[in-house]
Amino acid sequence: MKATAIAPANIAFIKYWGKADTKLRLPVNSSVSMNLGSCTTTTTVEFRQELKKDEISCLKEDFSFKEKQRIRTHLDLIRCKAGLMCFASVLTTNNFPGSSGVASSASGFAALSVAAVSALNLKLSEKELTVLARLGSGSACRSIPDGFVEWVKGDGSGSSYAYSLYPPGYWDLCDLLVIVDSRTKKVSTTKGMETVRTSPLLNKRLLAIPDRMKRLKDAMAKKDLRSLGEVIEEDCLDMHAVMQSQTPPLYYRNETTKRIMEAVVGWRNEGIPVYFTIDAGPNVHLIFEGKDKDRILHALNKIKGVENIILNIPASGARLINEDLF
Ligand code: DP6
Repeated sequence: MKATAIAPANIAFIKYWGKADTKLRLPVNSSVSMNLGSCTTTTTVEFRQELKKDEISCLKEDFSFKEKQRIRTHLDLIRCKAGLMCFASVLTTNNFPGSSGVASSASGFAALSVAAVSALNLKLSEKELTVLARLGSGSACRSIPDGFVEWVKGDGSGSSYAYSLYPPGYWDLCDLLVIVDSRTKKVSTTKGMETVRTSPLLNKRLLAIPDRMKRLKDAMAKKDLRSLGEVIEEDCLDMHAVMQSQTPPLYYRNETTKRIMEAVVGWRNEGIPVYFTIDAGPNVHLIFEGKDKDRILHALNKIKGVENIILNIPASGARLINEDLF
């Protein structure tokens, strides 16, 4: 009745922004991401007959009431699948600083799903696990499979799933997470997406996605960093254009974010192949090949306002481990 799982966070190359079905967390478009080796969540779940309620805690930070409620709802779903009415103890920890601005919901709900399913001895395929993790947090489905992952938008719960496009060792890509503001983001992704339809740019984005997905997959097949990077930046800027044109507008970037984005263009002009992407926060992810790591770290040293950096390489997806947290 006890199991522990570890799961990576992921960075989207083509982003998920907007839901076609809020309750089922069906996305308005398909997305593609890379698992982040240095940003993981480990979670132990134990179902115990004597518990009167779920006991949920995080080792280094406190969960808010809302966060605990979201975890309970997810546990209810898994209990329902197993036909069992029994509460659980859940203990979780992130290996990246909770204040790093990295969304822990992807790694968190992926680890929780894998651990709880195993603790209840439910036999789910990888595809079914991705569907389950998606119901906790959309991007969590992309943290289940290995390496580079596509989340197919689908048209119902069973057909909105994620699968591995390539294993982690396929391409020596790096993601350097540059933390410029470690505070929690102002508007959560779930909340921000609620008003996505107020953006006049959403339809244009959705029309552009199929061709963008094709270009991204072609670039990955050829390991063509330049084409990949162009698509990554195009989609990031497109998502932020949608965010900024929503009512009320969502501005996630700050002055340091913009300074780094401009510097990246300059570094490319100097011959360093590096590209940026940004999620729902001010921190910047730099995408490049391992061979250019030292040059990029050196160039980044000159930028003011950087609080911290985390270097990630492509990683395996969520998996069970033997070391329980309690
Ligand atoms: C901007 O998966 O956090 O990071 O489904 O409401 O939990 P919920 O949203 P979430 O959204 C992630 C949005 C993003 C882009 C991405 O990762 O694709």
